Amino acid sequence: MSAEIRFDGRVALVTGAGGGIGRAHALTLASRGAKVVVNDYAVSIKNEAEDDDRAQAVVDEIVALGGEAIANRGSVADAAGADEMVQQAIDEWGRIDIIVNNAGINAADAIQDEPGPAYQSHMAVHLEGQLMTVRAAWPHMAAQGYGRIVNTSSAGALGFVQPDGTWYGSYAIAKGAVIAATRQMAGAGAAHGIKANAILPLAVTRMVAPVIPGTTTLDYMERYTGPDHIALGACILASDECPATGQAFSISGGRVAVLVYASPLGFADPTITPEKVRDNWSAVMGQQDADHRLLDYYEAVDNAFEYRLLQKAGIGSEATL
Ligand SMILES: NC(=O)c1ccc[n+]([C@@H]2O[C@H](COP(=O)([O-])OP(=O)(O)OC[C@H]3O[C@@H](n4cnc5c(N)ncnc54)[C@H](O)[C@@H]3O)[C@@H](O)[C@H]2O)c1
Repeated sequence: MSAEIRFDGRVALVTGAGGGIGRAHALTLASRGAKVVVNDYAVSIKNEAEDDDRAQAVVDEIVALGGEAIANRGSVADAAGADEMVQQAIDEWGRIDIIVNNAGINAADAIQDEPGPAYQSHMAVHLEGQLMTVRAAWPHMAAQGYGRIVNTSSAGALGFVQPDGTWYGSYAIAKGAVIAATRQMAGAGAAHGIKANAILPLAVTRMVAPVIPGTTTLDYMERYTGPDHIALGACILASDECPATGQAFSISGGRVAVLVYASPLGFADPTITPEKVRDNWSAVMGQQDADHRLLDYYEAVDNAFEYRLLQKAGIGSEATL
């Protein structure tokens, strides 16, 4: 067996680490040698203040196991709060190497009512919160030529309906935007030794039961998908050995798998008409088997690759890009 993945000498910030998946990230990193800022603002899944010090409770757990950690009780949704949690790592240990952006809320909302009451808080916590911790840490990571960022998206970004038929709004929108933000961070970070990836976790936590109560899905999750599976599956992304950047990974129950945007060559004709599109719809859609396994798709690697696919499809193939 190869050497253990370790974090000795590394300093990590894990947001929303007072429970659920964030706690598992913090314990996993600390058990492998990282010094950890355990952040948690202590709110309910609907973003109401709760009267506990869950960040300190996780710090106590880590210390009792022989690790090093300090608590931060600020909000990632507040620029000053995000700055402070990064500064706390710098003041205490002189560096910041790893950010696991995990803090989250889930105030159910319907897409047709957006932007509704929960819109601002979802954007602030899930999207802006992940941007603001990274913004605060970026100068330190760039100066040291090293950084690892693990952002938390959600399979909710793929299409998310509640058992009562409500299609989610801002939660899913914000989580989708996290994937785009992660790609941009990876691009910008490449010159500085900063790698950024996103995860789409599924794990039974206090956030899950109220969303899918009484379902066979919840029963399945309770049996097979724990927070530790997420932390252990994502651990490599926070490590020196991180083999990817700009990617998103589905992680749950012991499964880790990259998620890609993909498209077939499609239908392409410089003399396009609406009728030609209709008559060539099967080419537009490409081929999948009954399990949705893709048969003739290309990964849409980035914006520039779109032009290469256009050329492959026969549009201006001779032109220099
Ligand atoms: N559990 C799942 O199956 C699942 C699925 C997809 C995505 N996620 C995402 O994973 C992350 C962790 O979720 P969880 O299931 O462990 O939920 P959780 O409710 O157990 O943990 C979230 C923690 O974030 C904290 N928090 C909320 N707002 C904060 C803020 N502004 N600043 C700092 N901390 C804040 C909360 O106090 C809470 O302790 C979230 O981003 C969630 O959206 C979870």
